[in-house]
Formats: sequence, C-alpha cells, structure tokens
Amino acid sequence: MTRVVAISGSLRKASFNTWLVRAAMDLAPPSCAIEVLSIRDVPLYDGDLEATTGVPPAVQSLKNSLAGADGILLSTPEYNGGIPGVLKNAIDWMSRPAADIARVFGERPLALMGATPGANGTRFAQQALLQPFRTLGVRLWTEQTLYLAGARKVFDPQGQLIDETVRELVRKFIAGFAAFLERNPRQ
Ligand code: FNR
Repeated sequence: MTRVVAISGSLRKASFNTWLVRAAMDLAPPSCAIEVLSIRDVPLYDGDLEATTGVPPAVQSLKNSLAGADGILLSTPEYNGGIPGVLKNAIDWMSRPAADIARVFGERPLALMGATPGANGTRFAQQALLQPFRTLGVRLWTEQTLYLAGARKVFDPQGQLIDETVRELVRKFIAGFAAFLERNPRQ
C-alpha cells in the first residue's frame, strides 16, 4: 500500500481544487491510500513568531505528514498567473527550519495538478511552483500533467466530479502516480 498526502491550495469550502483532490482520492487504485491535509490553520509566516515560539503546531503536523508519506499530491488554484498566497505561505512555513527540509521534502515524489473555471488549467501556477519545489529538492513526477480548465462544468454543486472524460483523466493521472510510487519505493 502506498501512502499519499494531498493538499489543496484553496481554503474555500466549495473549492474546485479541494474537489479535485477528493476526486483523486475516490478514483485512486486500491493500492494507493490518499489522505487529504488542510492548510487552513497555517498562520502567516513571520520570522519573529518562528524565533520566539518556533514552528506552529499546524505546520509541524503538516511537515510530519509529508515526511511520513510515500508521495505528495498538490492541487493548486492560479491567482493572477501565479501561486495563491495561502499555498506559498504554507510551503514556506513547511520549509522551516531549513535543517528539516531534507526530512520533509527531500526526494519525495510530488505530483502537481490544478483546477480553474478559466481556460488555461492553472498552467502558470503549476509552472511557478517548479522553482520552490526545485529549491526544496522534491522529486517532481513528470510522466503526466493535469490542467483542469472549465471546472465549473465538470463538478455538480455538491463537488462530485460528474464529467466522465475528466473522471477518466483523473483516474489515469492518479494511477500513473501510484504506479510510479510502487516502482520507486522509499529507501
Ligand atoms: C483568480 N482566478 C484565476 N483563474 C485563472 O485561471 N487564472 C488566474 O490568473 C486567476 N486569477 C485569480 C486571482 C484571484 C485573486 C482570484 C480570487 C481568482 C480564478 C480562480 O481560478 C477561481 O477563483 C478558482 O475557483 C480558485 O480555485 P478554488 O478556490 O475553486 O480551488
């Protein structure tokens, strides 16, 4: 059994990215368990806060979950052609202290996806995430891409992914990532 932790880069209740993460969880092969984590309780990064009270408990918990997982699945919205602040903030907190980066991110397989009601499928945001993740030393999974455009049309109001073509894409994406994890077990 491979263990994947999944993060949505949106705090919205009716977030397309959170719905996409949930769809991936539902459509994952039986050999792959996906646990959805939340970045809601991550405060704004503040070096003074870190210096006085250290890494906040919500961040420590996220870091430990990532460190214990076989892989990371991230679904990002795109804001103004870039990474949403709440997501970048969470990544920055999880990179502290720097001495812990290798434990949390080092060589950890990462699959990137994203959803937008717009037309470009979060390509710019996913592109912009490459630099931080390169800095953190993750192992980016590049065999497939998932740029979900027109998200409003493929989910029902309860967040169920109802478009059969997109369901198939998500199933293939998560099966591909799970197969990669099985071929490349943690050392
Ligand atoms: C957006 N949105 C957006 N969409 C996009 O495809 N490219 C973009 O550059 C932007 N820019 C942008 C900026 C800001 C400040 C907001 C609030 C929104 C629209 C965005 O894709 C939409 O709000 C999604 O629904 C956000 O993802 P969640 O919250 O549904 O996961």
